[in-house]
Amino acid sequence: MTIDAQAFCGQNSPKLSQNIGNTPLVELIKTTDGSRLLLKLEQFNPTGSAKIRMAKAMLDEAQEQGLLKPGGWVVESTSGNTGTGLAMLCAERGYRFTALVDNHAAKEKISNMKAFGAEVICVSEQGCDELSTHVRDDMAQTLAEDQGAFWTAQHRNFANSRGYIDLARELVTDLGKDISHLVAAVGTGGSICGTTRELRDLGCHQLEVTGVEPEGSVIFGGPGKPYHQSGTGTPEGAEIGPVIEYGLIDNGLKVSDQQAFNTARYLAKKYALMVGGSAGGVIYQALQQLKKAPANSTMVALVCDGGEKYLDTVFNDDWMQNHQLIAPAIDNELDALFQQLTTKQGE
Ligand SMILES: Cc1ncc(COP(=O)(O)O)c(C=O)c1O
Repeated sequence: MTIDAQAFCGQNSPKLSQNIGNTPLVELIKTTDGSRLLLKLEQFNPTGSAKIRMAKAMLDEAQEQGLLKPGGWVVESTSGNTGTGLAMLCAERGYRFTALVDNHAAKEKISNMKAFGAEVICVSEQGCDELSTHVRDDMAQTLAEDQGAFWTAQHRNFANSRGYIDLARELVTDLGKDISHLVAAVGTGGSICGTTRELRDLGCHQLEVTGVEPEGSVIFGGPGKPYHQSGTGTPEGAEIGPVIEYGLIDNGLKVSDQQAFNTARYLAKKYALMVGGSAGGVIYQALQQLKKAPANSTMVALVCDGGEKYLDTVFNDDWMQNHQLIAPAIDNELDALFQQLTTKQGE
């Protein structure tokens, strides 16, 4: 039986979810040999991140399959962006939503989920700075098995990657089939794998795909260690789900918190572009890739969210200093890199 999502709330009520997608694509740099790095700015989606795309796809498919009934209860283990997307859509559709978070979730994201009426349960002790992904996942599973909630299980749910089909179509509409490189963060793998699969299906056969994870995350190998980049990567001991399809990703790179966060801060100061911490890491690695790319490459970097979500951390000087993350050497490196990429030899 197909359930119409529109039937869940009044026909005349506003549906912000109708504005998901068609996010801007901006050119960050054009090199002297004709290559371009374009940023897909997913912070312009409702709830300010790419994850609303997959949240919608997971709910739509669960409804279509009859797994989620009117007035039902949704749970998810989340670092915040998936949870904020689910919270908004559950408010629109009349579901109860419970988010399981740890102290890595940005305060702004937690407040945002609560504003949409979500119940937010923090599984870590006060002051504990470590990721507790496996504890969050275990609790979500228990709520689903023992109390009848529907767990969207983003790491194992292929509706997650299907949520990015439109993103790939938007890129092909804007750029054609000559997209040569895609660079994106990898958490669940939904955004990079869903976008890649559709781009290749649409005829982008030259595409080289680079996944970026925090140093200390174990998706592309260990050793594991704590990191502060939020939403991206997988800490040691947490599930690497099947949504990460390794066969679709050509290169797996690591990026340090210092590189990611100082790049985000640099872009805000020098280019008036506020991106989140994971996007800082993606852009840092995209610029390194651009150095090696053949002439006339068209490289796209996925920006999962905006810097406004990280004013208490990445964009807070005291927080950065307390965590020994300020690194002027990275600003110098980026200055040199931008100069090298945009200055003709001999000039
Ligand atoms: C800020 C941020 N960056 C990157 C990611 C990784 O995206 P994906 O789960 O699609 O791999 C997420 C996922 O929640 C995120 O919130």
